[in-house]
Amino acid sequence: MTLLTELEVRLATALTNALGAPTSAAVTAAADLRFGDYQSNAAMVLAKQQKMNPRALAQQIIDELDLTGLATADIAGPGFINFRILPEAYAARAAGLIRDERLGVPATGTGKTVVVDFSAPNVAKPMHVGHIRSTIIGDSLARIARFLGFKVIADNHIGDWGTQFGMIIYGWNHFLDEEALAADPIPELVRVYRKVNAATQENPTVLDDCKSELVKLQAGDPGNLAIWQKCIEVSKSGLQKIYDRLDVKFDFWHGESFYNERLAGLVEEFLEKGIARESNGAVCIFSDGTKALDADPFKVHKEDGWTDNPAIIRKADGGFLYATTDLATIQYRMDEWRADHIWYVVGVPQQLHFRQLFDAAARWGKVGDFQHIEFGSILGDDRKLMKTRSGDNVGLIEVLEEAVERAARAIAEKNPDLQGEEAAEIAEIVGIGAVKFAELSQNRLTDYVFSWDRMLALQGDTAPYLQYSHVRIRSIFRKLDAPFDVSSATIHLNEAAEIHLVRLLVRFGEVLPTILEDFRPNLLANYVLELARAFHSFFEACPVLKADEPIRSSRLALCDLTSRTLKQGLQLLGIDVPERM
Ligand code: ARG
Repeated sequence: MTLLTELEVRLATALTNALGAPTSAAVTAAADLRFGDYQSNAAMVLAKQQKMNPRALAQQIIDELDLTGLATADIAGPGFINFRILPEAYAARAAGLIRDERLGVPATGTGKTVVVDFSAPNVAKPMHVGHIRSTIIGDSLARIARFLGFKVIADNHIGDWGTQFGMIIYGWNHFLDEEALAADPIPELVRVYRKVNAATQENPTVLDDCKSELVKLQAGDPGNLAIWQKCIEVSKSGLQKIYDRLDVKFDFWHGESFYNERLAGLVEEFLEKGIARESNGAVCIFSDGTKALDADPFKVHKEDGWTDNPAIIRKADGGFLYATTDLATIQYRMDEWRADHIWYVVGVPQQLHFRQLFDAAARWGKVGDFQHIEFGSILGDDRKLMKTRSGDNVGLIEVLEEAVERAARAIAEKNPDLQGEEAAEIAEIVGIGAVKFAELSQNRLTDYVFSWDRMLALQGDTAPYLQYSHVRIRSIFRKLDAPFDVSSATIHLNEAAEIHLVRLLVRFGEVLPTILEDFRPNLLANYVLELARAFHSFFEACPVLKADEPIRSSRLALCDLTSRTLKQGLQLLGIDVPERM
């Protein structure tokens, strides 16, 4: 049980006694440490309900509170109850964490299956910054959910089917450079795609040719199918290289094409069940009229009032759409994988698509927890959407390469002893970690301005700062003559900086589960920063190796626990730590 939960349990007993009916209330970490470690506004909330004086009720609750061996409590302001944890309770907690592989993190997700749908780039189109955000945020959420005990299925729903393949096949037949494709497939496919795009603008008959290639592909023409297949294969292997570098893993790559043969039956079923109907030759899902207009994804407000905003699931020409595939995907994930939760990590522009999708799925009887975990844009220094010099959207690979290059330069400056392969490996870990942390430390909903200097700074809210903190802690242990046996250490807390460090160490198990309440890895990013800062203050105020026993062992154990917690926290953000830097 976390410290916070323990306080809640004891508070619930006191509340029940004070009010004479089973009552519980939340405890939160204190916003301002001057008032204590934790607080509760229970007295204020309950006094309002019961028309009582909040401070008087707070006093009644405190009189009933048994905090023996744990904390002291007092009343502040209009009726807050503040808890101050006893140093011996912190010491006992720290001693427990030292022996706990899970670092105090409860398994809140046990027994639940969650499908995380993230990254999902489109074949033959470059991965843009939206895919970068999805990849980094999605991977971190998958890691956190796994650590919390969920059964996680990471699924890469790549765009491997659709109208772009008419153009790609045309380009493959007319413009492909086989050698370039073999060397580096993704840029070559993108080049071909762009070239066809330009050709269609110059010569409208090219567009017709592309369309007939698409029709042939959809009709199962063996030649076109073979090109399509080859295209997917080379794209996947190109993507896999990027994912390897990012240390991002998928359990499945069920792209859009995986669901092709389910779509016709799905549309028939929607027609039969009356969830969809024909409109101008197309099959569409309209509002079922059960929701308020402004909460109905199938209604939209235009100048002359509310009008229908249907989702098409079959075009008049018989073609299926993104929404059709996503409906089939939900069915598959629920039937085959028994998904309890499906999390879609996709940018804000697809909000309407997911609102319609979830509404249609519910009407279809698919009951589960579906979440669109949306995010804003990455902006360049000019606060416009980030672009390369040539005006293109910035690709993931370019960002990674530049980050690693810059990290290499910074490391060479700071520590010229590091050379060759070791220096290159460290630059890779630091550069990629910096990009990930810059992403994950932001509130995902806000647009953020991308800044190389800020993300790679050694002093600042950055991955390099955290990685360096970890290196610094481990270097303490390298100075010892004999390996340190943590398990035999006892914990003694006297100094304020020491107590503050433990206060944060104990919070790890409290912070992690809250991240999934509204999918904010930035809470973890902020936590590890705070932990690192607390460590540096501790290290400045409290001698470790020069202290006398048993303080020396106690402090060494805190150092060890801090490095494990930092490393685990970073690992859950998808960030590795180097041995040296
Ligand atoms: N391929 C899509 C895109 O790049 C993202 C797919 C997201 N996942 C989904 N199930 N719709 O915009």
